[in-house]
Amino acid sequence: MAKIDLLLGLQWGDEGKGKVVDALTPKYDIVARFQGGPNAGHTIEFDGKKFVLHTIPSGIFNEGCVNVIGNGVIIDAKIFKDEIDTLAVSGIDIKDRLFISNKSHLIIPTHRALDAANEKALQKNKIGSTLKGIGPTYTDKTARRGLRVGDIAADDFMARYERLKNTHLAQIKNLDFDMSTLTLDNMPFEQYEQEWFKAIEFLKQFQFIESEYFINKSIAEGKRVLAEGAQGTLLDVDFGSYPFVTSSSAIAAGACSGLGVAPSKIGKVYGIFKAYCTRVGTGPFPTELFDEVGEKLRKNGHEFGSTTGRARRTGWLDLPALKYAVMLNGVTDLMMMKSDVMDDFEEIQVATAYKYKNEEIDFLPFDACTQTMTPVLKSFKGWNQKIEKDIPAELNDYIEFIENYVGVPITLVSYGPDRSECIERAKN
Ligand code: GDP
Ligand code: IMO
Ligand code: MG
Repeated sequence: MAKIDLLLGLQWGDEGKGKVVDALTPKYDIVARFQGGPNAGHTIEFDGKKFVLHTIPSGIFNEGCVNVIGNGVIIDAKIFKDEIDTLAVSGIDIKDRLFISNKSHLIIPTHRALDAANEKALQKNKIGSTLKGIGPTYTDKTARRGLRVGDIAADDFMARYERLKNTHLAQIKNLDFDMSTLTLDNMPFEQYEQEWFKAIEFLKQFQFIESEYFINKSIAEGKRVLAEGAQGTLLDVDFGSYPFVTSSSAIAAGACSGLGVAPSKIGKVYGIFKAYCTRVGTGPFPTELFDEVGEKLRKNGHEFGSTTGRARRTGWLDLPALKYAVMLNGVTDLMMMKSDVMDDFEEIQVATAYKYKNEEIDFLPFDACTQTMTPVLKSFKGWNQKIEKDIPAELNDYIEFIENYVGVPITLVSYGPDRSECIERAKN
């Protein structure tokens, strides 16, 4: 039976999903995003050019590939228009190859305002949201009052927009948040709202479809479909370090609900992870480094957010967390990214367990957010050379240890941001 393959992040996002989706795209007819919104920033580099996509799937640079924004994704029309305009400047026109689910929800300007108001009210406990309106939009989706892309054509769209906006304004007032202090994309709210409405008009030229039928029909016809995740398992709303998570289901199950495909239709599950760990925003990070080694990871890896530009927190690879992510997603193939970042490290460490409440454990407990968890670290000798086409012996030892720990083969090792900088590994 024909199947759909999934590609998702196993850590706290920014693992390099965009690069791998783009690199795999020649093998696929369709690439479909299944959750998240413009909180995502997926970077793709080739021929000396660099693109960062937020809403548009990363299969877009292959002309033979159709791209779908699934029902589980949320869309800010203004950010979407900016993305399309940026691609157009580079001569990339994707209108005929991009389909949008009628059922994907719209991020309206007051969702972003409410996100800012919520974060401000949390003070030092803030989530560290990207402030793209993600939490409030998914909240409205589950509260059954959200606006969907297909609603744009409805006669009462404006009335429904005003109703939702007024609900938000009341919530914002309750939080004592002063709207006049807010800027969105460097614009005062009213100006941003006008731009957003222009972008809604712009959005109308795209093809809105019943994407669940489209995807299932394509699978049945034998088309090769790749589902692209955003964020990462440790930011998943159910299994991430709650409440320091995003508001969508970033695991394999999210692909089923975010595209309308049954679990029995899932084929390969590509799990993407960095050779170390990073995290943006607040929340537990047991292997975090606060010393010069952490600084070196940030500097070598250019660990600054693709969406917000914030410095990413850095630390050693966390194997209990990786194993947890592999379990939740049913990963069949692991892909290790950014190995080159540690090319000049004499020593590399990984966490194999945690010290938690005076015990040693190898799982993520419910209260990881409130308890101190210190990592139990194992040391490896660095490979101390530039990776090029071949995997050095010390790196291979590191890889084999990870494979044995999590029980899944690493089939691809990435050693640079360019789409060509990948080494495939055979499964043993
Ligand atoms: P995504 O959100 O998972 O798509 O990842 P991001 O694009 O936010 O962050 C990954 C960053 O690492 C981007 O700047 C990529 O260009 C870069 N990158 C991806 N793979 C590699 C790699 O193997 N080595 C290096 N040095 N950079 C990489
Ligand atoms: P990609 O797809 C890294 C983080 C934010 C914050 C938390 C909640 O590029 O891997 P939100 O804006 O969703 O309310 O923020 O989640 N976050 C990400 N971190 N990569 C991402 O996406 C992220 N999307 C959200 O920093 O801690
Ligand atoms: Mg990213």
